[in-house]
Amino acid sequence: MKVTAAIHRQFEIARIDDRLYAAFIEHMGRAIYSGIYEPGHPEADEMGFRRDVMKFVKDLKIPAIRYPGGNFVSAYDWKDGIGPKEDRPVRLDLAWRSKETNQVGINEFAYWAKEAEIEMMLAINLGSKGLQDAREFVEYVNHPSGSFWSDLRRSHGVEDPYNVKMWCLGNEMDGPWQIGHKEAHEYGRLADECAKALRQLTPGAEMIVCGSSNDQMRTYPEWEREVLEECYENVHYISLHKYFGNSSKDTLNFFGKIEETGRYIQAIGGVIDYVKAKNRAKNDVHICFDEWNVWYHIREDDTRRWKTWDWPEAPDLLEEDYNFEDALFVGGLLNEFIRRSDRVKIACIAQLVNVIAPIRAEKGGPAWRQTIYWPYQMASLHGRGTALRVAVDAPTYDCEVGSDISYMDIAATHDAAAGTVTVFALNRHLSDSAELDMALTGFGDTRVVMHKVMEGHDLAATNGPDRPDAIAPVDGSGVGVEDGALKGRLAPLSYHVIKLQ
Ligand code: AHR
Repeated sequence: MKVTAAIHRQFEIARIDDRLYAAFIEHMGRAIYSGIYEPGHPEADEMGFRRDVMKFVKDLKIPAIRYPGGNFVSAYDWKDGIGPKEDRPVRLDLAWRSKETNQVGINEFAYWAKEAEIEMMLAINLGSKGLQDAREFVEYVNHPSGSFWSDLRRSHGVEDPYNVKMWCLGNEMDGPWQIGHKEAHEYGRLADECAKALRQLTPGAEMIVCGSSNDQMRTYPEWEREVLEECYENVHYISLHKYFGNSSKDTLNFFGKIEETGRYIQAIGGVIDYVKAKNRAKNDVHICFDEWNVWYHIREDDTRRWKTWDWPEAPDLLEEDYNFEDALFVGGLLNEFIRRSDRVKIACIAQLVNVIAPIRAEKGGPAWRQTIYWPYQMASLHGRGTALRVAVDAPTYDCEVGSDISYMDIAATHDAAAGTVTVFALNRHLSDSAELDMALTGFGDTRVVMHKVMEGHDLAATNGPDRPDAIAPVDGSGVGVEDGALKGRLAPLSYHVIKLQ
């Protein structure tokens, strides 16, 4: 198929916030325990954190990480996780019907995040707890000294405050499954009061209010309107969540969910604009897409399992094996986030290790990178700077979730300081190569300095401990700049990152 496209140096969408490539990790399954933390493992450091997992994490250059939940946070008491480890209580985690040993709490996690060079984004419990508990948590974490909670932190060996800037006001409070679920107006009021109080403690902190748990919720998008009407002036982001699947084994429809996500972002953008006008507000609210990923391979089976199991400690839970099709999807979804970077400032892959995650680690055994690790890493490493508008003319298809969907999905970024343009291209056609002809205007003379490609695998192929790098990007060929245009052939079902300088 013929694909013509064009980018222009001055046709910009927005400056990309680095936090578009953030992540999320929850006290859930083996994400923390025997995921990032496993004292006694041959790779454990002196604090018990796994160095092999840390290496894979660091290679992603993750700017920020949301912690500790998720559904977990809505019945979590952060005070159980501070002080001497031997005195910490074992609690029942109501979200995942598991035992929480509290051997990792805020100070251990902060140590890990610092080692990983990632900024923390902390969630407060607005389910079983409320404003008072939240203000104590923020005081413990962020106040320098001379108050009860800050001095308690210092007595725990942490002299300097963490100065955490990003605070999530609860998690998925619209969801009936959430411990302490609320109606929109009551949650909006509570979020407003919490945002005001917490910003007293940390002026300049950014508040993230819960939007809908996904775009299929009965209350969507009324939830966003009602919540924002209560708290618009005191918050900075509204969160969106969405997980994806292909249970019907319809690849093109699966890939169409990339566009569906764009419509979700657009709709919430409209709600934000509406409330801003209605409230006569001066500030802007952006989107924090703080949970996204493919999640379906073992979702139903595992949900049946955990709902009835007998409170195990750090059980195997939702350890999805990602395949090549999922990697292509993730590449396209990240393209959508780049294209929507005027609205979406933060996005968190959910989650990071073991539970629905790009990194897996066997208890006592090796760690490996799943297929989806690679598009996430390439976007994080190369998708910084300014997002450019891309005009694309390519054949289209219709499917259940959308119509007129282009077979060719392209995003582009410009890093003026480095003098580079990066093109992210997904050919989602099942059988046809794309003959790409993409005009490049205003960038001067350029040439291809890097071309990475993921192609040629069975859609169902996966990585695993016995074949850790079976699916990984390789150097591409056959693409170059000619007469001011990027030209070349992109194979069917392939994802490319092409850097020009
Ligand atoms: O990431 C797994 C769960 O998905 C999170 O705990 C929750 O917020 C969402 O429903």
